[in-house]
Amino acid sequence: MTGDNELELVGLAAEIAREAGELARQRRREGVHLAATKTTLADIVTDADREVEALIRSRLADARPDDGFLGEESDAEVGRSGITWVVDPIDGTVNYAAGIPAYNVSIAAVRGTADPETWDTLAGAVFAPALGELFTAARGHGAWLDETRLQVTTDTPAGALLATGFGYDPSTHDGDIATVRRVMPIARDLRRMGAAALDLAYVAAGRLDGYFERGLKPWDFAAGALLVREAGGAVSRFDTATPRPMIIAGGLSVHARLLEILDTETR
Ligand code: IPD
Repeated sequence: MTGDNELELVGLAAEIAREAGELARQRRREGVHLAATKTTLADIVTDADREVEALIRSRLADARPDDGFLGEESDAEVGRSGITWVVDPIDGTVNYAAGIPAYNVSIAAVRGTADPETWDTLAGAVFAPALGELFTAARGHGAWLDETRLQVTTDTPAGALLATGFGYDPSTHDGDIATVRRVMPIARDLRRMGAAALDLAYVAAGRLDGYFERGLKPWDFAAGALLVREAGGAVSRFDTATPRPMIIAGGLSVHARLLEILDTETR
């Protein structure tokens, strides 16, 4: 059995994310079957989401039987080791179902209770199989895209290239659009890629200067938030007692500007 060393945890996360991502990609090639809508019309789950999560869960259980599990598609399990794996088998499911390559497998190992407010993220892997990119981070060891060490942007002289996302519940769209309107004055442009873990990975890689979104679930951001922090950036969450907490990520100055605009917005 492996230990709780960050590098061992990230090695396992990366290995399983690759295998799971290849399975997702294979199922995509075979044709995607929409299994159900979860909460609203846009909140879909495919058979592949469930199959990929089952694969990840069984690989983790084999390698680390004492750890807990928190995943998007199956029941949570409290472990005995103090480590919990936080898993989104296919982040960007709508893209996946539509044949858009911006989807990924996101796997993080956290220490502490299964609460993002208090846990310590030790390791994370975000693998985008259709794009062939593996992002990894281990606490204290930096963030990486394959063999290249990542660094968030520091200067944004032409304005910030930002990304965001919208909740699946149509009743939240007006509020999210009002938030976008508040942010646009500091933006060079805005992306809505459709996969939160990739948005965060791209902030870590310096492709995006910042990212903000309301209503993410822990598995959407656990690995990506570690990537941003390990690449020298900052991540904040607020309104955590509400159903739709806001997450903000970026290089230090863009993060501070987003925080100033959004933490004071009228809600
Ligand atoms: C979703 C994606 C999307 C974000 C949603 C998430 P899922 O994750 O990350 O970009 O806007 O909030 O729920 O449902 O595809 O795993």
